[in-house]
Amino acid sequence: MPLLTRRNLLKASAVAGAYGVGVGIAGKFGVAEAAPEPQVLKALKTTASLTDSGVTKDIMTWGDAGMPPVLRMTKGKPFAARLTNTLDEPTTIHWHGLRIANKMDGVPFMTQPYVYTGDSFDYAFTPPDAGTFWYHPHCNTLTQMGHGMTGVLVVEDPDDPTFDAEVVLNLRDWRLGGDGQFIAAFRPRDAAKTGTYGTVRTANWHQEPQYDAPAGGLIRLRIAVTDVTRIFSLKMEGAEATVIALDGNPVPKRFPLDLLLIGPGQRLDLAVRMPDNEGAIATLEDIRGTTPKTIAKLRAVGTSLKRNVGDLTALGENPVAKHDLSAAQKIPLILSATAESAPVDSICGTLGYSFWAINKIPWPGDTPDPTAPLAELKLGKSYILQLENVTPHTHPIHLHGMSFTVLSSPTRDVMPLVTDTYLVQPDEKVQLAFVADNPGDWLLHCHIIEHQKTGMTSYVRVV
Ligand code: C2O
Ligand code: CU
Repeated sequence: MPLLTRRNLLKASAVAGAYGVGVGIAGKFGVAEAAPEPQVLKALKTTASLTDSGVTKDIMTWGDAGMPPVLRMTKGKPFAARLTNTLDEPTTIHWHGLRIANKMDGVPFMTQPYVYTGDSFDYAFTPPDAGTFWYHPHCNTLTQMGHGMTGVLVVEDPDDPTFDAEVVLNLRDWRLGGDGQFIAAFRPRDAAKTGTYGTVRTANWHQEPQYDAPAGGLIRLRIAVTDVTRIFSLKMEGAEATVIALDGNPVPKRFPLDLLLIGPGQRLDLAVRMPDNEGAIATLEDIRGTTPKTIAKLRAVGTSLKRNVGDLTALGENPVAKHDLSAAQKIPLILSATAESAPVDSICGTLGYSFWAINKIPWPGDTPDPTAPLAELKLGKSYILQLENVTPHTHPIHLHGMSFTVLSSPTRDVMPLVTDTYLVQPDEKVQLAFVADNPGDWLLHCHIIEHQKTGMTSYVRVV
């Protein structure tokens, strides 16, 4: 495994695909000011080697090198991608967490037509925020994401602090049987509870991969939970790890990583201070559940660089508009279970059940005739989502197109994080404030895909 230092980034990008590590095409578009050449993202079906039981068929991805490429772009610089669809079903791409124009948001019917087999769609936007984000389809998502279509997206800031290396981890599971082939994507009984877990856990499509990193160096570890179900409780053994950003935005105050809960859709940026001794291993673990599970390992190589996490300069703030609490209107938002019913069929996939609802209305999203919006918001005004989870389950609630600030929760201590996805605990109430500064219809949904697709979806309209 080559070291993924900044200096080696360009060199490494040529081979990174083969290693499944997170370096996409760096620099190619980052320098272009005007209309860059689109990066082609070809949606296709392929096979992959995920387990010892042989090659897994029916993998879905973009590109032909296994895991979807880690897309790299630069804050404030135009980016373009051309989706070409060679799957035998429609698809789209949603750029999770990017505050871009509504027509680039990738939601079928709501923001664009779905992209049929053989068709293509051009996405073009300028990412306003730096950080770790990700991309995925918004059509038949339990299948398409479950079969592989979840990629990490890195928006660089030229003023980012200098790390000695960077490692990107795309965390996800696969629902495979003993023969290494896909089994039923979900069990209705589980969809009505936590969601159905995968059977094989991977980071960058490998089980417990190990990467080399400079001894005594500072590593930027970018983690994206792209799984359709699993919530992680992350911990680092064998190295000091500091949380520097969550969901693409710098944390108000850095803190040591100690059992951080992070759910589907969320991202975590860590500054990892590698051990000084060559060969020493730092292990990222998930300690949710009974036995700790290794996610990935970093092995110290070379003579110690003797770096200090205190040397890292701050990450730049993202230009998210500041809400005005005195004028903010409140929007109640109740997450609940619903009486079971069968939703109407949809071209973008239905699971055949309604189990969940937002403000009592179950809607699976991605349908040609959406329900009414949760609220109509006035462009430029401040709002507070008053979120109340009346279920005994945890829900990562994601808002498209705008970032919000976590204000307060009467049920637990919260940090004033700026984010696009909030992990609402069972029976939690929380207030999320934002400025409705992006016109259009914006989805709001649980990112446990079985919850989303069995009713826990709605949207706000900004006019
Ligand atoms: Cu990751 Cu509707 O989004
Ligand atoms: Cu949920």
